[in-house]
Amino acid sequence: MTATIIDGKAFAANVRAQVAGHVTRLKEEQGLTPGLAVVLVGEDPASEVYVRNKGIQTREAGMASFEHKLDATTSEAELLDLIGKLNADPAVHGILVQLPLPGHLDADLVINAIDPAKDVDGFHISNVGLLGTGQKAMVPCTPLGCLMMLRDHLGSLSGLNAVVVGRSNIVGKPMAQLLLGESCTVTIAHSRTKDLASVCRGADILVAAVGRPEMIPGDWVKPGATVIDVGINRIERDGKTKLVGDVDFASAVEVAGAITPVPGGVGPMTIACLLANTLTAFCRANGLPEPQGLTA
Ligand code: GUN
Repeated sequence: MTATIIDGKAFAANVRAQVAGHVTRLKEEQGLTPGLAVVLVGEDPASEVYVRNKGIQTREAGMASFEHKLDATTSEAELLDLIGKLNADPAVHGILVQLPLPGHLDADLVINAIDPAKDVDGFHISNVGLLGTGQKAMVPCTPLGCLMMLRDHLGSLSGLNAVVVGRSNIVGKPMAQLLLGESCTVTIAHSRTKDLASVCRGADILVAAVGRPEMIPGDWVKPGATVIDVGINRIERDGKTKLVGDVDFASAVEVAGAITPVPGGVGPMTIACLLANTLTAFCRANGLPEPQGLTA
């Protein structure tokens, strides 16, 4: 038996279509357009690609896209000044500062200067605290996308053993909080975990978010488990560059009940959830009902 392949590309297209439908309706009903501002400092090539794709998909969803590209030498004061202006701008409902920032800028300080209601990345300490205490928060996009796919595939997650491999602030920790919120029994494992293989083998839900190519082999996967692979690792194989996940797909697909591929799994969900979060922020800012199925 091979696993069901969870098609993140199709799932993300569906999320974007739902967002676009809400945007069309809200423009008609309210005469207002949700807006997302993205701030890029410097010229990191990968970040430039992400920011370009964010802009394209934001406009495709019918939202306003505001792009602010700042020189790598931008001072902290200049960046904080821009964030202050975006916080005060009623046309901007979501603000995203692309990470990583150049070394002379304090990312925590910058992120925490964003109005938490506009923090569509869910990285502000207020949103982290709200999520951790089960209150209404803006939820980081990648874990939100993983949760949507898990709910769609499994229905209720209650009582399942969930293992999150990776403890980053962007994926691992918020993913664990979301799974706890779904009444899973949650383990956060990481590079120092003793006998990681046996910890993983206990997982009904295995979320891999470590950034190490193919580090989780199929024999660490419990038969029938749902495997969510957040890794996007570029490797050289047979003289070609190739994208692989944190899970060894070829062996895991023979054991798992369902698995997300790389590419085409979690990856496309991140921007789709960014658009969903921008819509959610817009609805909250205007006292409108939140879109169903697009929040945590
Ligand atoms: N850089 C890589 N991923 C992300 C993300 O999800 N948000 C931001 N702001 N920067 C990133």
